Amino acid sequence: MSKNIRPHNYKISVEDRRNLNNHNSFLLWFTGLSGSGKSTIANRVEEELNRENVHTYSLDGDNIREGINNDLGFSPEDRTENIRRIAEVANLMVDAGLVVLAAFVSPYKKDRDNIRHIVKDVNFVEIYVNTSLEECERRDVKGLYRKARAGEIKNMTGISAPYEEPGNPDIEIKTEIESIEQAVAKILARIKPKLHHKNE
Ligand code: ADX
Repeated sequence: MSKNIRPHNYKISVEDRRNLNNHNSFLLWFTGLSGSGKSTIANRVEEELNRENVHTYSLDGDNIREGINNDLGFSPEDRTENIRRIAEVANLMVDAGLVVLAAFVSPYKKDRDNIRHIVKDVNFVEIYVNTSLEECERRDVKGLYRKARAGEIKNMTGISAPYEEPGNPDIEIKTEIESIEQAVAKILARIKPKLHHKNE
């Protein structure tokens, strides 16, 4: 931090906001190949949380890249900056008392480790949406894999850019084996104890 910048201490803390909400706040981070199902699953999890009066917000690759990160492409450096900014935004939202759902390819392990560092380990749940490249390519919802194979898109994750698998994710979803509803139920069961906030 620059020596001329001093954070001001506000009276209302994250704990006050969590008390008011009556639930904890943390970040659910969905990582996986493009077309793996991250946003679809995140959306369904958010619907269920909303139904249970949990305050949420979703951050999504395709949306964020149209706005705050519209100056970034898909080089390794730009992806690192993309993830760093999103982690900082998510950190503010967790501080604001929300359960944040973020769906980003986030292919580099060091970038995902950096998110954990920014929001703190206790607030970070890494969810690996593990769908094989073959299956993502077969689905090709956005037609990007076909374009990448034709050489029209450079740096396409899985084709011409790497995806580093999480070694030890908090939750792993295999969409070729489990249904979306099974995946949603699994995530909700895992985060239920984490949602509980003891009023002080
Ligand atoms: S990340 O690698 O920096 O985390 P992010 O999740 O923001 O990526 O954006 C990925 C989305 O951008 C994909 O779902 C896809 O729709 C689109 N996209 C466009 N070009 C590429 C590319 N070269 N590699 C991966 N995704 C791409």
